[in-house]
Amino acid sequence: MSPTVQLPALRCLRYEVALNGWRVLKETINDFSLWRLIEYPWCTKALDLRPGDLVLDVGTGTATYPHMLAREGVNTVVLELDTERVRWQQRKANASRRPGDGTIYPVVADATALPIKDGAARRLSAISSLEHIPDDTPVGRELGRVLAHSGVLVITIPYTRSKRCHFFKGVRPFREVEPNAFVQESKPGSFFRFYTDETIEKTYIKPSGGRVVKWGAFGRRILNGMYHETRLTKYWRRYVIKDWLLAKIVHPLEEQFGIDTEPLYVMFKIVKD
Ligand SMILES: C[S@@+](CC[C@H](N)C(=O)[O-])C[C@H]1O[C@@H](n2cnc3c(N)ncnc32)[C@H](O)[C@@H]1O
Repeated sequence: MSPTVQLPALRCLRYEVALNGWRVLKETINDFSLWRLIEYPWCTKALDLRPGDLVLDVGTGTATYPHMLAREGVNTVVLELDTERVRWQQRKANASRRPGDGTIYPVVADATALPIKDGAARRLSAISSLEHIPDDTPVGRELGRVLAHSGVLVITIPYTRSKRCHFFKGVRPFREVEPNAFVQESKPGSFFRFYTDETIEKTYIKPSGGRVVKWGAFGRRILNGMYHETRLTKYWRRYVIKDWLLAKIVHPLEEQFGIDTEPLYVMFKIVKD
């Protein structure tokens, strides 16, 4: 049997450069950021992938993740609501495809009504995407419906233990529309939600019909505060190369010493019984 596919942070960065050019080291040009250098390695490991496997990625946006998986021989269904973003993925796939790569299947669809048969998905991922969907109850139901028996579902979402009020302060004018859910003033589609233990259980774990076998977290004191909550953010976001340093050095230290502090994001792996 072939060894499992791994995507360490440095390899993710190398793929970003190969697929989007050197300028990604200077500025954010797609959905790429520090968090992905933590999320992609974690999710890839949790999905327990081998070349030839098929992943259904929900809310892919303009992520390079499916192309990274393709380079590792893994096939991905890119499922995304925004037609333009799906076109971006198709163009990227056409331009970068090499013999032996996995295949990318771009699909325009809404996660609240997945065009997929019951129990058909053995490996599902939703990476920093579900928090942008206001109507998340049907999404949780749909993920549970399409997840195969003993299939794996990997989710990463923003997290809070009680209430987050200051996340966007000093960055952009956001308005709270329901507890822990925000929209950016004058920007339709900018919905963003933080989940608590209770809402994660109710929205995603219970409807999945499975159980969580692994948890991860990131964005504790330093990454949380410095990365997102200050006026320096616009400069900070520019230099993606610093993301690798943060993901490789600061994140492991935070996870080792700050295990009891509230993280900004959680990652979890569900296996359906
Ligand atoms: C932050 S981006 C995704 C990040 C991406 N997964 C990555 O790895 O970088 C969130 C995406 O979710 C998509 N989205 C929002 N609502 C959706 C829905 N109901 N169904 C599918 N995709 C949706 C948005 O169009 C957007 O592209």
